Amino acid sequence: MSNSKVKYQLNLRADAASVLYQILEQGMSARECLPAAQQKHNEKDRAWLQEMTYGVLRQLPILQHWLRLLLDKPLKKNVKVVEHLIMLGFYQLAFSRVSTHAAVSECVNACAPLNAIATKGLVNAVLRNFIRQDMAQNLPDNEQVLSGQPKWLYKKLLNAYPHQYQDILDAMQNKAPIWLRVNIQRSSVDDYRLLLDQQDIAYEIQQEQPQGVVLSKGCDITTLPGYDEGWFAVQDGAAQLAAHFLNGQPNERILDCCAAPGGKTCHILELEPALTSCIALDIESSRLARIEENLTRLGHKAELICGDASEPSAWWDGQQFDRILLDAPCSATGIIRRHPDIKWLRKSSDIDTLVALQAKIIDAMWLLLKPGGTMLYATCSILPEENQLQINAFLSRTADASVDSSFANDASDKPGRQVLPGQKQMDGFYYARLLKS
Ligand SMILES: C[S@@+](CC[C@H](N)C(=O)[O-])C[C@H]1O[C@@H](n2cnc3c(N)ncnc32)[C@H](O)[C@@H]1O
Repeated sequence: MSNSKVKYQLNLRADAASVLYQILEQGMSARECLPAAQQKHNEKDRAWLQEMTYGVLRQLPILQHWLRLLLDKPLKKNVKVVEHLIMLGFYQLAFSRVSTHAAVSECVNACAPLNAIATKGLVNAVLRNFIRQDMAQNLPDNEQVLSGQPKWLYKKLLNAYPHQYQDILDAMQNKAPIWLRVNIQRSSVDDYRLLLDQQDIAYEIQQEQPQGVVLSKGCDITTLPGYDEGWFAVQDGAAQLAAHFLNGQPNERILDCCAAPGGKTCHILELEPALTSCIALDIESSRLARIEENLTRLGHKAELICGDASEPSAWWDGQQFDRILLDAPCSATGIIRRHPDIKWLRKSSDIDTLVALQAKIIDAMWLLLKPGGTMLYATCSILPEENQLQINAFLSRTADASVDSSFANDASDKPGRQVLPGQKQMDGFYYARLLKS
């Protein structure tokens, strides 16, 4: 059987290795392939599967370093998935509390369901060598490998943040907490927090986050009080800043032009239910359904349009907007702590393409904004080319645009506000509030 058609059987290690193969060799995102592997397991094993695959993705460079030391030559294409199985074994031996015996024997047992039974001896020998040679202590003197980031991203962060990069790299390796946003159209924030107290669900709150609740432990969010009733949405604290920064007012027309899955659209409507209209636009029709789902669960209404924000002539009715939220397609480098597959799916060359697309969308959307209107530009990126440099370039080519300086960061040379991953438990995010004269 070829690896592109790896079949799922009930073996957790085999499933984890297959998911890793699909992400790292076939370029699929975890969102595309992990749920299929998870669905045949019970809840506990589903969590284990995510924990293990994300763990390997977080620590991949050091696992590859050990693989190079212990494997004489790379495995042939038809059993390539076994390299991922071995790295999963290393991960368990070096970074998890799985017992040595279980880590080795279960990985060996996973060879059969992966249709690679002939590699059993090899997997056994490599993992036993790992233990015998105490490889977990064999760390290279290489900051990039130890950081867990690909070379290109490590270099970019080093250049962009010469004084902070170490903290940023550490935060990118940590697991992100679950943030809730209380839906103030359905429950008061105090009432909801009381409900959590009554159910002994531990949480923290953060300054500047009037609706935010940070859960102290991971959980299945559908079991939290008020899930079906739409009393809360799951949204990181950094993303919760968007609707506050946009600051919609009664009787305004608002466009959220890269809206799916609609987290920020819902928040905009929650903060100001008396808008004249709120349009949620996205280029991907399949993702519009996600916006609809979220609007329905939380009890909001918006007009949904499937269209390309860089080509408004195809869908725009000619009426300008008071405010536009442009939550741009980006490298997503600010949310790698939540989605560690991103760093292996993105390539350095993608950044230039994204920067060009963002510039095209900002220019097109600017024409749809009323004079006196506000555009909030946002990305979940921590790369200056998508953020400060992008906005500086826009300001220099657009005569009627200025940046709201009351909103600027401490570093006065940078327009906008850069949130770094881990700051006040938030994801990395960038915001710039642009004013049209
Ligand atoms: C960062 S996500 C938006 C997240 C969303 N604002 C939220 O808070 O839930 C970017 C979105 O932009 C959409 N997109 C990408 N290119 C686009 C384009 N040219 N026009 C409109 N939407 C686009 C993607 O489909 C994706 O849903």
